[in-house]
Amino acid sequence: MSRLAIDGGPKAKPTPYQVTNRYGDEEMKLIQEVLESGRLMGVDGKVKDFEEETARFFGVPYCVMVTSGTAALHVALAALGVSEGDEVITNPMTDIGTVAAILALHAVPVFADIDPKTRLISPTAVRERITDRTKAMITVHMAGLPCPVDEFLKIREETGVRLLEDCAQAHGARYKGQLVGTIGDASGFSMNESKQMSTGDGGFVLTNDEEVARVASLYRDKTYVRGGGLRHGMQPVPFFAMNYRPTCLQAAVGIAQLHKLEGLVERREAIVRRYYNELADVPNLEFPTLVDEGEASWWPLGVRYTGENPSKDEIVEALKAEGVPAGHCMSAVRNILRTEMIQNRQYYPFAEEPPSFWKDVEYDPDSCPNVDALQDGVIRLPVDERYSDEDISQTIEAVRKVFGHYFA
Ligand SMILES: Cc1ncc(COP(=O)(O)O)c(C=O)c1O
Repeated sequence: MSRLAIDGGPKAKPTPYQVTNRYGDEEMKLIQEVLESGRLMGVDGKVKDFEEETARFFGVPYCVMVTSGTAALHVALAALGVSEGDEVITNPMTDIGTVAAILALHAVPVFADIDPKTRLISPTAVRERITDRTKAMITVHMAGLPCPVDEFLKIREETGVRLLEDCAQAHGARYKGQLVGTIGDASGFSMNESKQMSTGDGGFVLTNDEEVARVASLYRDKTYVRGGGLRHGMQPVPFFAMNYRPTCLQAAVGIAQLHKLEGLVERREAIVRRYYNELADVPNLEFPTLVDEGEASWWPLGVRYTGENPSKDEIVEALKAEGVPAGHCMSAVRNILRTEMIQNRQYYPFAEEPPSFWKDVEYDPDSCPNVDALQDGVIRLPVDERYSDEDISQTIEAVRKVFGHYFA
């Protein structure tokens, strides 16, 4: 076994990863069509095309495109009837956008821990958090791993709490054969550039419910009714809503990206299968267990380091030195419960007091220990459909080299 690169030895991954431009001829052609049409504003045109095609692909009647994943979750929660003072349950290992969507409605985020086995929001923990103020629960299909949606549907049946799926990291993942995002009352997807589908920034809501779709469509566009032959000046404006309209340029890219999704999911599955198979005997390394009948749409892969010495951080640094862009955490924020925003209930940048809807709420920073435990041990391994087979072989070699060095 050669010397570790961190100690001056040769790198196991000496060449850069093969990462070609994810945007190609089809994106270019569709963008050109938009520019040639002379209309970029997203009230019809390619935005409508994107919505129709995306709904068809996912097998739901309704898709509403918006400007981001955060906007998608905000719009979806509003359309599900969440309003001031309602409680919405999610887990604190997600993107801050999930929580921002709740707070934007002056609703109260309530945090449930993850199940250490699935690494996803625990149905048992959700049940324990339900009160008579709970309006919705958000299942985050984190890192492309599908949640056991049936268990949340059961909670919905028993309690009436509405189910929103956060699919920002899970385009193309399946549960019991069904694409995630099509099972709950509604779902929100992100299309920022780190996601399986990218429009640079963007997002969309899916739903099977006509009323949810109607309200979502109004809520993303200041409640304006488009294309209904309404005379100028006659917009009824039934309630308050922001402008979350995407442009037709985003939608053009989104259509081309949708066409690549199935191939991308398949290629990532093949890559991750190699990680599972070829790293199975590495000591102190644990792979995620998918829920029964779950099919992931892999994002970066979170493996768990179960050793103590060296530290997880030392392992990650050793992997980086070998040329592997390993990561220390599954999310930009390690545990949202521990942020200043949540602990101080700091809603406005300069306010000295929490706002009234959030005043009497307290958050125990230690109340989701499984999130802390997972983030303590997790190592993010890179997954990208564009990587060559040699990239994957060298990544595997780097992991084997580092673990082999410490645990020979
Ligand atoms: C799980 C999750 N939810 C919500 C969001 C918010 O999406 P966006 O960044 O498009 O607003 C993200 C994006 O990082 C995410 O990963």
